[in-house]
Amino acid sequence: MKNIQKDFEKKGYTIVKPEKKILNEIREIIYSSIKKKIDSKYKNKDIDNFFNKFHEFAKSKDLNEIRFSTYNLINKSKKFQNLYYQAAKPFLNILVGNELAMQKKINLSIQMPKDKDSLLDMHSDAYAGESPFQVVVWIPLVNVFSSKGMFFTTPQTSKKINNEVLNNDKYNVKQLYIKNKKKFWFVKANFGEIIIFSPLILHGNKVNLTNETRFSLNCRFKSLLSPYDVLKKSHRNIPNFYRPLDIKPLTKIGFNYLKTLQNKVI
Ligand SMILES: [Fe+2]
Repeated sequence: MKNIQKDFEKKGYTIVKPEKKILNEIREIIYSSIKKKIDSKYKNKDIDNFFNKFHEFAKSKDLNEIRFSTYNLINKSKKFQNLYYQAAKPFLNILVGNELAMQKKINLSIQMPKDKDSLLDMHSDAYAGESPFQVVVWIPLVNVFSSKGMFFTTPQTSKKINNEVLNNDKYNVKQLYIKNKKKFWFVKANFGEIIIFSPLILHGNKVNLTNETRFSLNCRFKSLLSPYDVLKKSHRNIPNFYRPLDIKPLTKIGFNYLKTLQNKVI
């Protein structure tokens, strides 16, 4: 087994294999939710095929409604959120800690071949004010490769470009991407694996030029007590963006004590 910590420190991301049963359950919930919405003659019971060939039988005008209703379903379900956490937990404990905060909303991406509407230019999530202390847990529901997936670069290139974006106005983000294009590559991962990455590693996606649709989920985790609004004041904190998980007794005792003191002062 590879050393996850070393791998992550070297690359800024790692690809790991959680318990397959959990990922199957996650995928099954999404499959049955979407299948109910599809008004088509789709009879094949193969889930891989259902997702990969989704663009062949789903109408693109229904895509937003399908995405939205599935997003609502998974985010109302405590069971789904817990499955997501359980899939990533052993790896988060190694990379982040064992007292965690989880993003309140799990995102679902559906990227059909040639779709120009769901593109994400090269970015770091920190550009939008997200915490550099968080990781993104990215779960592909199908095998991803080349433009069906997302692109990454090295921590060294990310550092260099982040530095130019934050401290230099000479080029905008798009120009910096074009200048450094050769230093980016598409990540390859199969269903059964998850990608955990630091949002400081520059990433994005392009038009999907394969003949398969990508379905993937993403959700952010961080150490409960690490800083939230580091770069600018944002809503990316508890209770707006994150919820606490597994609060340890001493953290509760400490915060309760601080609350008592605060009440006294007021
Ligand atoms: Fe991102």
